[in-house]
Amino acid sequence: MKVIKVKNSEEAGLSAATIISNRIHNKPNLVLGLATGSTPLPTYECLIADHKQGKLSFVNVTTFNLDEYRGLSGSHPQSYRFFMNENLFKNIDIRLDKTFVPNGLDPNEATNYDNLIAQAGGIDLQILGLGLNGHIGFNEPGTSFNSLTHIVGLTDSTIEANARFFDSKDEVPNQAISMGLKSIMNAKEILLIATGKNKAQAVAQLVKGNLSEEWPCTILQTHPNCTIILDEAAASQL
Ligand code: GLP
Repeated sequence: MKVIKVKNSEEAGLSAATIISNRIHNKPNLVLGLATGSTPLPTYECLIADHKQGKLSFVNVTTFNLDEYRGLSGSHPQSYRFFMNENLFKNIDIRLDKTFVPNGLDPNEATNYDNLIAQAGGIDLQILGLGLNGHIGFNEPGTSFNSLTHIVGLTDSTIEANARFFDSKDEVPNQAISMGLKSIMNAKEILLIATGKNKAQAVAQLVKGNLSEEWPCTILQTHPNCTIILDEAAASQL
């Protein structure tokens, strides 16, 4: 695992965007795995800026998002489809029919999603954030390392952490659909970004913890091409 340490979240965003943009320049039809949450926002801002300056085109790129809340349609302001449209897709030249986010309303989506990824040729580069309890996507502690895309029950701590985006904790869905740990590990390259002091414990587990399903992120230790970008606060327990 390659570790890149930077000062703050803005620098983390710049560093991640540089890697993504290089991969798209080398392979314009890149299959890019995307994440939601606040962590990748500075990265998306840099990608949008590169696009607006004419330095980067997404016209041949296909994207697959990691996860979606169950029960929310793509037009719900807290759905991850809505988040992606607002924070990235509507600001770049990507074709919307090449952007995939699991459908939170379709009960058969879990079985379809891995097939869709395979049909696209597999994910070339997967972007990841990191949950406080070490979850990646919505794969909570205890998820099998062999999991494919599946329906998950969210833990209290994740519901609590994500409540800031909703009017109240009661409105946070208690289930999600998420690419599994095996689906994530199938990506040819992985780029995880973690910023802020509240991620320091999960980052310490990710880098030097024992391989364990109790800390889902530890599976990344076994990926042949994984880079993590950390700011000073997130790296503070290393
Ligand atoms: C959510 C998402 C994850 C994300 C994590 C961290 O639970 N499902 O994909 O990585 O939260 O979010 P943030 O980046 O806002 O800290």
